[in-house]
Amino acid sequence: MAGELSPIDTAKFVAAKRAVEFVEDGMKVGLGTGSTAAWMVRCLGELVREEGLRITGVPTSTRTAELATKVGVQTITLDEAKWLDLTIDGADEFDPDLNLIKGGGGALLQEKIVATASDRMIVISDATKKVDQLGAFPLPVEVIPFGWQTTKALMEETLAGLDVMGDRVTLRMNGDAAYVTDEGNHILDLHLHRMTNPRQVALVLNQIPGVVENGLFIDICDVVVIGHGDGRVEVNDINSGTREEDRIEFVESENMFSDLSE
Ligand code: 5RP
Repeated sequence: MAGELSPIDTAKFVAAKRAVEFVEDGMKVGLGTGSTAAWMVRCLGELVREEGLRITGVPTSTRTAELATKVGVQTITLDEAKWLDLTIDGADEFDPDLNLIKGGGGALLQEKIVATASDRMIVISDATKKVDQLGAFPLPVEVIPFGWQTTKALMEETLAGLDVMGDRVTLRMNGDAAYVTDEGNHILDLHLHRMTNPRQVALVLNQIPGVVENGLFIDICDVVVIGHGDGRVEVNDINSGTREEDRIEFVESENMFSDLSE
């Protein structure tokens, strides 16, 4: 497999590889969802198989649960774990305060519950997700299917009173049908383009009946690990205010990528 990773996959992979260095023996770890988080699950699997790391993972989607099992990471439910040492997950956007937009992969509800139930949340990302102001990526909001069109209309009305640039709301689709989350809900994507007060947007959206949760993660993320296509990684810790730079050397082992070639 050597040399087969694209620069973007290399960036995601090195971010994931650096982030799993935060995982210690015996930890309970929240396992995020998405292509970057999948690299992290593979990296953890490798540590479990080859270095005997003992951890339990709490997956944030059925996709992640399946991958974890496949690569040898033992999983339990959040109710069994109750509280986690660490969650590692991807993001669609992060700002300088490490506030996030998440839910591009449709798993924001479990992701937010799991991250909030963790001592620490680490976001892994390539550099394209770093923004000065959140909002270019459409904000996902999970809504119950009952009356979703009414919820959408209320949402558009609410957005008109907020300091956001756009107010178009679209139903996420999966082919010809509405996308259905692991909880049986739908996702409305809010095309805001920019928002000056994400905290207010998050609070106001959750007041609308029918809204289950929004994809704004405010004051939840502690550390962001940014990977680059040349193997460099930056680690920014919002609590200590530190920024470290590192380089990840790696060999694309068959073991690590075995699930990709199936
Ligand atoms: C899933 C998410 C993902 O973390 C987010 O969409 C980033 O995904 P990717 O790593 O594939 O770019 O929030 O609900």
